[in-house]
Amino acid sequence: MNLDATAPLLDVSGLTVGFRTSDGLVKAVTDVTFRIDPGEVLAVVGESGSGKSVTALALMQLHPRTAVITGTAMFDGVDLLALPHDEMRKVRGNEIAMVFQDPMTALNPVFTVGSQISEAVLVHNDVSKKAAWARTIELLELVGVPEPRRRASQYPHEFSGGMRQRAMIAMAISNDPKLLIADEPTTALDVTVQAQVMEVLREVRKETGAAMMLITHDLGLVAGAADRVQVMYASRLFETGGIDDIFYESRNPYTRALLGSIPHLDAERGERLLAIPGNPPSLLNPAPGCPFMPRCTERVQQCVDEMPELVEISGPGHRSRCHRAHDLAPLEEALDPTDTTTTEARA
Ligand SMILES: Nc1ncnc2c1ncn2[C@@H]1O[C@H](COP(=O)(O)OP(=O)(O)OP(=O)(O)O)[C@@H](O)[C@H]1O
Ligand SMILES: [Mg+2]
Repeated sequence: MNLDATAPLLDVSGLTVGFRTSDGLVKAVTDVTFRIDPGEVLAVVGESGSGKSVTALALMQLHPRTAVITGTAMFDGVDLLALPHDEMRKVRGNEIAMVFQDPMTALNPVFTVGSQISEAVLVHNDVSKKAAWARTIELLELVGVPEPRRRASQYPHEFSGGMRQRAMIAMAISNDPKLLIADEPTTALDVTVQAQVMEVLREVRKETGAAMMLITHDLGLVAGAADRVQVMYASRLFETGGIDDIFYESRNPYTRALLGSIPHLDAERGERLLAIPGNPPSLLNPAPGCPFMPRCTERVQQCVDEMPELVEISGPGHRSRCHRAHDLAPLEEALDPTDTTTTEARA
């Protein structure tokens, strides 16, 4: 039990995850260090393939056998990475719960939604079936499933995508987890339903006090939903800070490029204005310099030669991996929100 209120709930240090493949070792996560405090929401953001899911799966010991993992992940006094499998199974779904992108793969199609939530309650609690069912109805109500009594007896295919995701969230919080890991919880949903599910997650946080690791490739989702943001690129942390540090004081060209790809003026037309030009590098045999260098508008020779370290910007709360972190122009000038031209055009 954690008695010190200021102690982190999760303290990850030097997490590195490699996959042995026929082509060599793929470094999916490289030396990632971060913490999540009790009740805090940390958003983990980055393009596809940056290592967000692998980070979360490694913490839950849900990685494939080919993974080679080093580092520590202290959760309430125990190292999750060193926990025997049967101990980990107790932590999973109880103290740490996960919500995935596609709830259809996590729900069993042959059982009713209610019976699956009840089952989750029964596995970790010594309560009667009747009490577990009552709790199920309560949970469905909390996540905004209308007519929860009737809905509980329906099968997953009778639920819409948004309703299924609500059911998954209900199941995830059924045992009052201290930490909820949500991996792209709204990516498969259309924009309106996305906003509703984000609202449910906010509500859940308020009701349960659970800390949350919110994984998304969409920086636009995190502003109203997270306390801190952690930006990943090519398996590494590129910038971490509070919401304001990232959105108004970013000291990293990659974060800035992500900010530039948030739909703004053309949002009504439902268009994403731009993606970051170029592609992330291969994670096999990485080149010596900064992995973002080939796509970076701010690069100098040092970026070709040397991997930048994660350096402090303003106190330990805001850190950036960029050789030019301290001499980038202030963000207001770099990113005019009324400017509708693309990054490419601006560069
Ligand atoms: N089992 C595996 N074997 C080999 N490489 C893998 C394996 N699983 C993941 N990878 C690689 O690890 C890297 C990180 O993958 P990860 O799934 O964490 O990305 P992500 O940031 O979650 O992306 P997305 O936004 O698409 O979900 C990718 O390059 C991926 O191809
Ligand atoms: Mg992922």
